[in-house]
Amino acid sequence: MSNPSLLILPGDGIGQEVMAQVRRIVEWYGDKRGLKFDVEEDLVGGAAYDAHGTPLHDDTMAKAQEADAVLLGAVGGPAYDDLDFSVKPERGLLRLRKEMDLFANLRPAQCFDALADFSSLKRDIVSGLDIMIVRELTSGSYFGEPRGIFEENGQRVGINTQRYTEAEIDRVARSAFELARRRNNRVVSMEKANVMESGILWREVVEAVHKADYADVELSHMYADNGAMQLVRAPKQFDVILTDNLFGDILSDCAAMLTGSLGMLPSASLGAPMENGRPKALYEPVHGSAPDIAGQGKANPCACILSFAMALRYSFDQGDEATRLETAVQQVLADGVRTGDLMQADDAQPVSTAQMGDAILAALD
Ligand code: NAI
Ligand code: MG
Repeated sequence: MSNPSLLILPGDGIGQEVMAQVRRIVEWYGDKRGLKFDVEEDLVGGAAYDAHGTPLHDDTMAKAQEADAVLLGAVGGPAYDDLDFSVKPERGLLRLRKEMDLFANLRPAQCFDALADFSSLKRDIVSGLDIMIVRELTSGSYFGEPRGIFEENGQRVGINTQRYTEAEIDRVARSAFELARRRNNRVVSMEKANVMESGILWREVVEAVHKADYADVELSHMYADNGAMQLVRAPKQFDVILTDNLFGDILSDCAAMLTGSLGMLPSASLGAPMENGRPKALYEPVHGSAPDIAGQGKANPCACILSFAMALRYSFDQGDEATRLETAVQQVLADGVRTGDLMQADDAQPVSTAQMGDAILAALD
């Protein structure tokens, strides 16, 4: 049997620097744990534009469709700010998400104990926090028609449409319930069924999926505005949160900040199962290309490394190995190893991107 395949797209700015550390970790798994991957590396974003005049070459798109998992660094940067909208680096990422039909965006908000003081909330409110937000990613207000700016009665009107089909709600609800079964068997679904018909349908379909196939999972519903309040009041009440594209965008960013640094946040975007049973999958850190620190060896590689841990868990069924990697990251942080983004004023010298990689590899050993 051939090895599972991994397509690596470092992209731009610190994407390349953090991905270099991930590559060392992928090699470690091959050498030390017998987990070998067929790794291919390609271009996305500004790097692809420079080489091909497009932020995602058709060949790269085809490779992504075939790969067992895609790992992406970050795209964009000031050099590309003046490009036409159609070839902007971000378009490469959007095309990947769209053509792979990645409808379930998984955003963990996990508070590493060593970093609890970086949270905007008190230590005891966030310490031990471990939430997973499942955000619908391919429909809702950001895609619904009609959309646009129109003239009406002599003034302009801006329109976006919150639109969900039953099938779209059904499939993302299943993703959330499946995930809950691998965690603590609890889902809170968030919408605004009190004021939005799309929210009423959302609640009905989630209920129906639950009743039909996931009655063993504890399900409750919450209005999204209350959900936002609860997230900052008592976030540890949540395990899996299921929500739509627009609310999920806001709630996941809000939850992310409870944990401290952008440099620590991984994500996964999953689609329908492929022939081999694995879901279409793209893993990437939440942060961007960080032009202010790019090329200086200052970037924190943890978000990208933890994205690879998510790939181990969700694409390759290696939950124990994923935990091994997450534990190594935690241990390194507990030992006080810090990149600049994790420093407080009176701390010692920050380590470089590569030194953080060294420390994590040493902890794995
Ligand atoms: P950003 O996430 O790149 O940076 C925000 C701030 O956080 C900066 O001060 C940066 O130095 C810091 N930061 C981010 N990641 C870090 C890490 N791993 N280690 C240490 N510090 C880190 O967001 P920004 O500045 O809004 O956007 C910069 C570029 O990245 C833009 O071109 C934007 O379009 C693009 N971008 C790309 C994303 C993606 O590829 N998924 C997501 C967000 C932005
Ligand atoms: Mg956002």
